[in-house]
Amino acid sequence: MATPTKRRRPVNRAGRRARSDPWRAWVRAALRQVDTPCFVFSESALAGQWNRLRGRFDGLPVRHWWSFKTLPLRPAIQWWREQGQGVEVVSEFEWRGARALGFEPDRILVNGPAKHTWLPNCAQDGMRVNFDSVEEIRALAPLAKRHRWRIGVRLNTRSESHAEFPGVRTQFGLMGSELNWASRWLRAAGLRVEVVHFHLRTQVSAAAEYRDAMEEALRLCGEQRWQPDVLDIGGGAPAQSVLDRGRARLDAQFSWSALRREVTAVLGHAQGVREVWMENGRWLTAPSGVLAVRICDVKEGRGMRTLICDGGRTLHAMVATWEGHTVESLEAKKGRRVRTLICGPTCMSFDNLGEHRLPRTLRPGEVLIWRDAGAYQICWETRFSHGLAPVVWCGRKRVEVVRSAETFESWWASR
Ligand SMILES: Cc1ncc(COP(=O)(O)O)c(C=O)c1O
Repeated sequence: MATPTKRRRPVNRAGRRARSDPWRAWVRAALRQVDTPCFVFSESALAGQWNRLRGRFDGLPVRHWWSFKTLPLRPAIQWWREQGQGVEVVSEFEWRGARALGFEPDRILVNGPAKHTWLPNCAQDGMRVNFDSVEEIRALAPLAKRHRWRIGVRLNTRSESHAEFPGVRTQFGLMGSELNWASRWLRAAGLRVEVVHFHLRTQVSAAAEYRDAMEEALRLCGEQRWQPDVLDIGGGAPAQSVLDRGRARLDAQFSWSALRREVTAVLGHAQGVREVWMENGRWLTAPSGVLAVRICDVKEGRGMRTLICDGGRTLHAMVATWEGHTVESLEAKKGRRVRTLICGPTCMSFDNLGEHRLPRTLRPGEVLIWRDAGAYQICWETRFSHGLAPVVWCGRKRVEVVRSAETFESWWASR
């Protein structure tokens, strides 16, 4: 006789995950101090991601730089400094921000185009500068020599193509055809290339792209008889749990162990290269923040529900143009999940955070959490018909309002 099997209750993984998800607690803590729409960041989430990143290259001479533009948030960068790491900047404001936070010049890596227009205002001894063009080298070489800068050169490698127009090479770095000129100016100034740098694009799909670029960069260095100590492979690792427009995971083809293998191989055979540097902004910071918005109105029809919220793409989440992020309600909700379009409050029809399947019981006044909003959100905010949103940092010791909601007076003064 068959033994009767005990009937198990179905496991509601989504429900269990929702109950244990710390983001609900962090957003509640933030909403005790500010109202929606608001950005909420968490030190624990950031620290967890940092541990994962460095763990992936444990035992290898790999140094990680904070990409300032990706998340220009004071307490987050301060926290990063406390971890003993350096910061990568691309403008005078970012340089000054890094200095104000106490980074010494050799802990700041200056990247980005057209820096000859602002770097002379900030020149200091011992800066680290990656040149982006022949003109930059020509204009800045004397300053570099006088102030004993540690020099790098950004190359435009073949695999560096535009994220929006695949196959089209970007405007950054030196093309192979410009390297003879670059060498000539560097030699004339008595400057040695210590760092060779590239940044492929954001959301790089596979480790093989880094391998191809590393090999090309080393070949180009060989042709110029440069012997860099450092290979700086930029950022670009794709965010986890984020979808593309076709609803496929952006990191579906990406493997950190494959990248580790490529880095290990290059350190093994590239003559003179002692360190590999990385500048991963998105991967590190995207999971450290969320956007919380409140439902203001609900429309039925057009085959779905439409939630009009107090925040959205136009104001706070430009990357929603290309990316699909997880959305959940602050309070756990019962009810059948139905097609739901989440819209912002502006009169742009593109102002939406995408279509989701959300409980049909969601009502005005309730709060939604748009996840993975840590990278490229507060730097890309707009003031379209509204002011800037408040920003809250949930540190391990205290919850801090980094920026209050913009007032009408300050919004008006900037019109
Ligand atoms: C030179 C450089 N380094 C690092 C980054 C960070 O890239 P990501 O956020 O895709 O890792 C960027 C982004 O544009 C960049 O231009």
